[in-house]
Amino acid sequence: MALDVQRLRTEFPILSTQPGGRTLHYLDNAATAQMPRAVIDAVTRHETGDRANVARGVHALAERATAAFEGARAAVADYLNASSPEEVAFTSGTTAAINLAAHGLGAHLKPGDEVVLSELEHHSNIVPWQMLRERTGIEIKVLPVTEDGRIDFTFFDRIVTKRCRLIALTHVSNVTGAVTDVAPVVEAARAVGALVLLDGAQAVPHGPVDVRALGVDLYAFSGHKMYGPNGIGALWGKRDVLAMMPPMLGGGGMIRHVTFARTAYADPPKRFEAGTPPIAQAVGLGAAAQWVQALDREAVAAHELRLTGKMLSGLATVPGLRVIGPTGLQGRRGVVSFAVEGVHPHDLCQWLNDRFGVALRGGHHCAEPLMQRFGLDGTSRASLAPYNTDADIDALVEGVADARRNLA
Ligand SMILES: Cc1ncc(COP(=O)(O)O)c(C=O)c1O
Repeated sequence: MALDVQRLRTEFPILSTQPGGRTLHYLDNAATAQMPRAVIDAVTRHETGDRANVARGVHALAERATAAFEGARAAVADYLNASSPEEVAFTSGTTAAINLAAHGLGAHLKPGDEVVLSELEHHSNIVPWQMLRERTGIEIKVLPVTEDGRIDFTFFDRIVTKRCRLIALTHVSNVTGAVTDVAPVVEAARAVGALVLLDGAQAVPHGPVDVRALGVDLYAFSGHKMYGPNGIGALWGKRDVLAMMPPMLGGGGMIRHVTFARTAYADPPKRFEAGTPPIAQAVGLGAAAQWVQALDREAVAAHELRLTGKMLSGLATVPGLRVIGPTGLQGRRGVVSFAVEGVHPHDLCQWLNDRFGVALRGGHHCAEPLMQRFGLDGTSRASLAPYNTDADIDALVEGVADARRNLA
């Protein structure tokens, strides 16, 4: 059945607001997606009825809060098809999850070991590895990107050597929308005994992910991009991989036993969750995972694909516009970046906001190496969620054409 977008939209209170006095065309979902009532209500219910610290108290509220927090972990595990909730460590988001992985894996790496990244990566999957390089002397190798914004697998044999210990790649690009073909990555990693980490920040919003089918070792993502609160995300890891990682932060909640002589750490995932965790945010993330799971996945995919096609063909009619990424629909998501000759992305985004009510993102998208690859300072980016409509795309295309006429 086709997606009932108008009904879906009523679940999102913010979509009927008029920021700046204009109808909102929210196309900045890759930066942060909006929250449905189900998530807002779950957070409110928790804060008004169950608020307490977790895992420490024996009173009724503490028990309810702990059950809600662990229930959220189970919901996230289910969303990822993890073998067990113990494989899910809550973090503040993708950035924190990748830093945690870099710290934990770094304890086992030595000078000359190689970590393979790609030119497509967000800074949060570049900088933590550079920081690790400074500490340990590892080397970073980089897979190039094709003209249409995909990881260039023809370089695999040259870049992935016997010294490779980890391949860490984005699952879906936050700039080009390209979906990474994970199977050959896992195959190449296994051939040299390396692990695979995926940055799933832009993949999880588009429906449940099956980490077991993907065959990877670590998976990082953020809640705020999948209709949940911000300040929460997770690092999923295979049990044995998490077990070999030392904690990054020390404190309450992550220990088995403490003396002044030494501390024994708790098992994963608690080992990685020092201090009071973001409890309400985790509850919201669990609710978001369940909300996405309840959607008709095929209908959502068909709707987003159709709107992506409409966006690509509409933008192609604007003179001087170049899409940075795949121009076809195969192997891509509804994240579309483009450069308009003679118009700076910030000016374009401002124009679209002020005159057309279209919320876009302009800049380097925390992917400066990718911008350098394409010889650009930045792009404008429109990104879809299931609640987007034909009217949003019409406003985008009309606005971009208008900006080009007036600003170029
Ligand atoms: C592909 C990708 N990775 C990582 C991140 C960082 O996510 P967060 O800022 O939620 O930690 C983003 C956010 O834009 C992203 O798109």
